[in-house]
This record gives sequence, structure tokens and C-alpha cells, in this order.
Amino acid sequence: MKKIAVFASGSGSNTQNIIEFFQKDSNANVVLVLSNNPNALVLERAKALDVDTFIFNKTQLLEPKGVLNRLLEYKIDFIVLAGFLWKFPEHIIHKFEHKVVNIHPALLPNFGGKGMYGMHVHNAVVEAKVKETGITIHHVNANYDEGAIVFQAKCTVDNDDTPEDVAKKIHQLEMAHFPIVIKDLLTKNG
Ligand code: GRF
Repeated sequence: MKKIAVFASGSGSNTQNIIEFFQKDSNANVVLVLSNNPNALVLERAKALDVDTFIFNKTQLLEPKGVLNRLLEYKIDFIVLAGFLWKFPEHIIHKFEHKVVNIHPALLPNFGGKGMYGMHVHNAVVEAKVKETGITIHHVNANYDEGAIVFQAKCTVDNDDTPEDVAKKIHQLEMAHFPIVIKDLLTKNG
């Protein structure tokens, strides 16, 4: 049984979807949800689904024995960033080489980088009048949104779409694809 840890800073609709997906899967399970935000709704969602939670501060994330130790204690095999807003530290990336993925709510390399999260992304997409947007699931390296792309799915941006309309389309893509892509990666990783 592969053990997944999810990092999230906010609402956690993706985290909930991933937990529920793997609760029906016999090969992997989400065993820990970690957040930098003690007030994040994601913590309530995880507890309601009987998943352990861990809240940490910046020092604990950056020091070699903080968050990393917790991941090792839980014998985590795979890490998912689902709306995690802090930079992910290199010492954890090295320990989990090719086993950390993030989801970004646009088609990278467009609309990525520091400060590009949530509605900032959808506002920029509508402002730029692009005809399509989508989601990107990518490996995590030391730079924001620059790791190797694993998967992308697209949706149209119609002329009269508001940023909120775009957010809804993106949410649907995330719900449909993210758990399955994680499952595929776990299968390939052996
Ligand atoms: C998602 O749109 C994800 O792509 C982005 O942050 C958002 C998280 O939403 N990285 P939620 O907290 O899972 O509801």
C-alpha cells in the first residue's frame, strides 16, 4: 500500500477529492494532510474523512528535522501539492526525487510563477483574451511551476467568460483528472 501525503493551504476541494478517490483504491491511500494554515478548511475536510493532519510553520518546513521527519515517520511514498502556497523546500524534494507533484490551474509555461495562484491566474487568463486554458500537473523542482510537465487538460475560454466562469471549468478538470494522474504515476513508479 503506497502512502500519500497532501500539502494544501486553503479550501482543499482537490485534497478531499484525492482522499475520497484513494479510499476506494486498494493500492494507495492518503495518510497525512499537511498545512501551513491553521485555519484552512482543508484540515476540517481531512479530519471528516479520518485522515491525520499536521500544521507547521516556516521554520519547521525549512529545518532538516521538521516536516521532513514527519513525512519519514509516516513512511510517505508520494507527495501531492494541491493549492500549497509556500515554496517547497529543496531538502524534501531531494529526499523524494520525482515523487512530488503539483497542480497548476493554467497551461504552463503560461500564467505561472510567483504570485500566480487562484483567481490571479483566471483574471490574467481572461485579461489576455486567450482562447483556451486548462490544468497542468507537474513534478516539483526548486523553482515555482518549472518542473517537468506530467499532464495537461484544456478547456475553452469563451468571449463572455468571466474569471469565475473559468474557475468553474478549471475546477471540473481538476476533479476529473488529478487523482487518476496520481494513480498513474504511482503505478509507473513501481
Ligand atoms: C486549485 O485550483 C489548484 O489548481 C491550485 O490551487 C487551487 C486549490 O483549490 N494550485 P482547493 O484548495 O483544492 O479547493
